[in-house]
Amino acid sequence: MRIIKLDAIDSTNTYLKKLSVAGGAEDGLAVVAKLQTQGRGQMGTVWDSQEAKNLTFSVFKDVSFLQLTQHFYISMAVSLAVYDGLNSLGMKDIKVKWPNDILSDNKKIAGILIENVIKLNVITGSVIGIGLNVNQTDFTGLPSATSLLLLSGQVYNLDEVLDAVLKQIEIHFNYLKTKQFKVLKAKYESQLFRKNKPSTFKNAEGSVFSGYIIGISDNGQLLVRVEGNIIKSFDFKEVVLMY
Ligand code: BTN
Repeated sequence: MRIIKLDAIDSTNTYLKKLSVAGGAEDGLAVVAKLQTQGRGQMGTVWDSQEAKNLTFSVFKDVSFLQLTQHFYISMAVSLAVYDGLNSLGMKDIKVKWPNDILSDNKKIAGILIENVIKLNVITGSVIGIGLNVNQTDFTGLPSATSLLLLSGQVYNLDEVLDAVLKQIEIHFNYLKTKQFKVLKAKYESQLFRKNKPSTFKNAEGSVFSGYIIGISDNGQLLVRVEGNIIKSFDFKEVVLMY
């Protein structure tokens, strides 16, 4: 697979989206930057990452074989790819927080930002952005962030970590291509953060409520059992898991 290595860029997602719209991105192309000056997170947040300490990269994947209703499975496949990539490096106790945060020790080690590439009203591909904290140890102002080094006491070679995750992305997209959605969902649910544990949530109106995460619906909604044994389903942006 081709990898474009950059010293600095605003955002690898923005760069790769432009490249793919211009017809310059093939399936599997990855772009990795030592520094992002405008790294972007989910829901308009900023992704900060110290220069050359961590991985900030994006991968272009052809998703034309998926129906729109199956798009949540991209998020599942990528979360599990990061999960398995970290496992292959010997990391234990990794969890996936719905929809696609990767946690260890209750702290976030990686974030994922998936953006569709649309040409003439058709989704031609997905740009999958991953920020993975590797060798950074100072997270001042980010008390719920962690890194591979903080967790294991070991300094990692960034290329090796990148290679481990890219391999898993290919493996997990093959699950998508071969329509093994049930396998993906079962694996995703088995690693789900706070599954079956008493948890507190906030909904889009700001109300706080308690419940138990019981799993994920077939179209990617979070299923929560609330008071009265009622199962509620939430879309991304409709609910935040607080603790
Ligand atoms: C999140 O908020 O958890 C998602 C963070 C995604 C960050 C990555 S870093 C590489 C790629 N380029 C970006 O601008 N964002 C993603």
